[in-house]
Amino acid sequence: MSQKIIVTGGCGYIGSHTVVTLISNNYDVVIIDNLSNSNKKTLERITKITGTSPHFEHIDLKNPEQTKSVFKKHNDAVAVIHFAAYKAVAESVEKPLMYYRNNLLSLINTLEFQIEEGISNFIFSSSATVYGAPETLPITEENKVQRPFSPYGNTKKIAEEVLEDLVKTSSNLAAISLRYFNPIGAHKSGFLGELPNGIPNNLMPYITQTAAGIRKELQVFGNDYPTKDGTPVRDYIHVVDLAEAHLKALQRLLNKEQDKPLEVYNLGTGNGYSVLEIIKSFERTTNTTLNYKIVDRRPGDVETLYADTSLAEKKLNWKAKRDIDDMIASSWKWEENLKNEQ
Ligand code: WQD
Repeated sequence: MSQKIIVTGGCGYIGSHTVVTLISNNYDVVIIDNLSNSNKKTLERITKITGTSPHFEHIDLKNPEQTKSVFKKHNDAVAVIHFAAYKAVAESVEKPLMYYRNNLLSLINTLEFQIEEGISNFIFSSSATVYGAPETLPITEENKVQRPFSPYGNTKKIAEEVLEDLVKTSSNLAAISLRYFNPIGAHKSGFLGELPNGIPNNLMPYITQTAAGIRKELQVFGNDYPTKDGTPVRDYIHVVDLAEAHLKALQRLLNKEQDKPLEVYNLGTGNGYSVLEIIKSFERTTNTTLNYKIVDRRPGDVETLYADTSLAEKKLNWKAKRDIDDMIASSWKWEENLKNEQ
C-alpha cells in the first residue's frame, strides 16, 4: 500500500510541483491549503499531469481545532512536508504581524498535532535568506545564520530555531530543513508553474509577464554592485529539481538514515547568474526582446548568493539536473499557456 504524505501549502508553487513528484513516485498525497495565495484549479492541473487527484483539505492551519481534526483524520500519514506560508518579502516589511502570525502559528499547529497523532517525520521549507549577507562564498550549511533583513526571512530563521528546540524534547520527531536558493521554472508540460498574486516581486515572473505584455517594463534594481556586470548574482534552481530534493529528503527520513534529528541542507545548483545574464538568456532562449531599464538598488538586496551543494549531494544523493535554459524555457512555456487559458 502507498504511504500517505501530508503536504501543507500543496497548491502553492513549490508545493504543487512536489505533490506531482510524490504522486509520480506512488505516494498517497493529502494537500492541506487555505488557498490564501493559491488556486483550487491547481488540483485539476496536478490531476491532469499525474492522472491522480490528491486528497484536499481546505482548512487554515492557524486554526488549532481545524488542524487537530485534519491530522486526526489522516493519522495514518508517515510524514508532513510543510510549505504553507506567506512569502512576499516587501509585504512582510509592511505587515510584520501578519507574517509572524501566519507563518509561525501554522508551523506550531502543524507540529503540535502531527506529534499528537504520532506522525514523526517533518520536512520544512526554509530559505537561503537565513544566511543574510554571507561572509564567505559559496555558502555552506556551516555559514553563519544571521538575522534576515525581512520579517518573512525571520519567520524562516525562527522556524528553524523552533525545530532545533523541539527535536531535543520530542524524541520521536525527525526533521529536515531545506534552504532554497532562488526557485524558478515550471513543470515541463506547461500545466503547472508559479502564479504570483498581483504584481510579481521576484525576477523571473516579472520577466515573463513583461515579455507577455502584462507589464510594461522590467526594472533592474541597480548595476553598481561589485559583481561581473554590476547586477546581483543568485543561484537559480529549477522548481522540479527542488521537488525531487524533497522526495530524497523524505526517503532519508523514512529510511531512518539521518545523522541527527534535525538536518539542514542547501538546495541550489552551485552556479551564480547575474540579473543581466538572466535577461540575456531569456532573450536568447525565447527569441524575444525584453523591455528593461536600470533603476536604483532595491533595499535589502544582497550582492551575491550561491550555494555549496555538496552536503545535499553526499547525504541526500541529490544534485540539480536542469540548467538555466531549461528553467527559463519552462517558465516561458507556463506563461504562454496561462495567456492562452484566458
Ligand atoms: C533576484 C534578483 C533583484 C525583480 C527572494 C527572497 C528569498 C526567496 C526568493 C521567496 C535581485 C533583481 C528582481 C525585479 C530586479 N524566497 N530583480 N527586478 O531577492 O534573491 O530572493 O525570493 O519566497 O527569500 O528574498 O529574489 O527574484 O526577488 O530577485 O532587478 O523586478 O533580481 O534585485 O538582484 P531574491 P528576486
